[in-house]
Amino acid sequence: MTTIKEVAQLAGVSITTVSHVVNSTRFVSQDTRQRVMDAMQRLNYRPNSMARSLRLGVSQMFGLMLPDNSNPFFAEIARKIENLCYENGYNVILCNSDNNQERESSYIDLLIGKMVDGVIFIASGNQPDHLNMLVEAGIPIVIVDREVGLQVADVILVDNCQGGYLAARHLIQLGHRRLACISGSSRVTPSADRVQGYRLALRDYGMDCDESRIISGDLRYEGGIQAMQALLSLPEPPTGVFCCNDLMAIGAMRAVRSAGLRVPEDISLVGFDDIFMASAVTPALTTVAQPIEEIAEKAARLLLERVHSPQPKKPTERVVFQPRLVVRDSCRNLEESA
Ligand code: RIB
Repeated sequence: MTTIKEVAQLAGVSITTVSHVVNSTRFVSQDTRQRVMDAMQRLNYRPNSMARSLRLGVSQMFGLMLPDNSNPFFAEIARKIENLCYENGYNVILCNSDNNQERESSYIDLLIGKMVDGVIFIASGNQPDHLNMLVEAGIPIVIVDREVGLQVADVILVDNCQGGYLAARHLIQLGHRRLACISGSSRVTPSADRVQGYRLALRDYGMDCDESRIISGDLRYEGGIQAMQALLSLPEPPTGVFCCNDLMAIGAMRAVRSAGLRVPEDISLVGFDDIFMASAVTPALTTVAQPIEEIAEKAARLLLERVHSPQPKKPTERVVFQPRLVVRDSCRNLEESA
């Protein structure tokens, strides 16, 4: 493997000069820089990133922890974060915990070993005690989407309770009285808060909340199918269903059709997230939109500021974005057709 010494000899400069060119740690004249770059190319020299990290105390790398990278919501967030970090000279190590906290913990070990400069973290559950290993390693953390009760991290959330309220109120205002909700995993805060918003809307409109019509899903397509099948098997199936994310709503749509019924004629559906698929399915899904791009951009910028901040102890921020109801074609107005 070519060494930095061989590059310096070929370019006719010192090893220090090669290091300054590689790490942009001091001004080097264009002519000298070009000689070094030519030598590196001729010798196919690859700087050792770990040696550089150890020497400079920075890795120019961030970790991004996701619970399920097959879910477009997380994929869209990851793409935006990775683009922004790349534009600012940082590489992103994507870690998919696959909703498994042991796997999440082993990835945290990996990120510490890689000496990442910061981590953007979307939890797989609500007991990520292993996050303290990052805190003890002095690695800045930005928590996104799911509360984890860590006081020393910036937090970016959506008002999930308001989102659930908007979804249920929309169905009620369309005349639906037999409502249901397909929730996500109770291990993560967003779903529990959305169900709370659903309950508050029913209360505000003087409707009882039938707990047998709140079915637990898994935030995945298949979970939406199974939960909708359970609702359709009830003695009096619902006419309007709020699903705590779009993937489950699209699964529910599949289950309605498989039962020989139609959306929205027989069953109205509302989702949550507004992933690109929500507008691509037929009928297009009415949903509660999360500002995915803004969430991702805020997470990346907060971490970059934290890493570059002249005030290492800048107070942590808690940012709560507002969701927005996007009305499309998956809900029927029972008032009109009465
Ligand atoms: O679709 C994945 C869901 O899990 C989203 O609603 C997001 O908020 C996350 O909590």
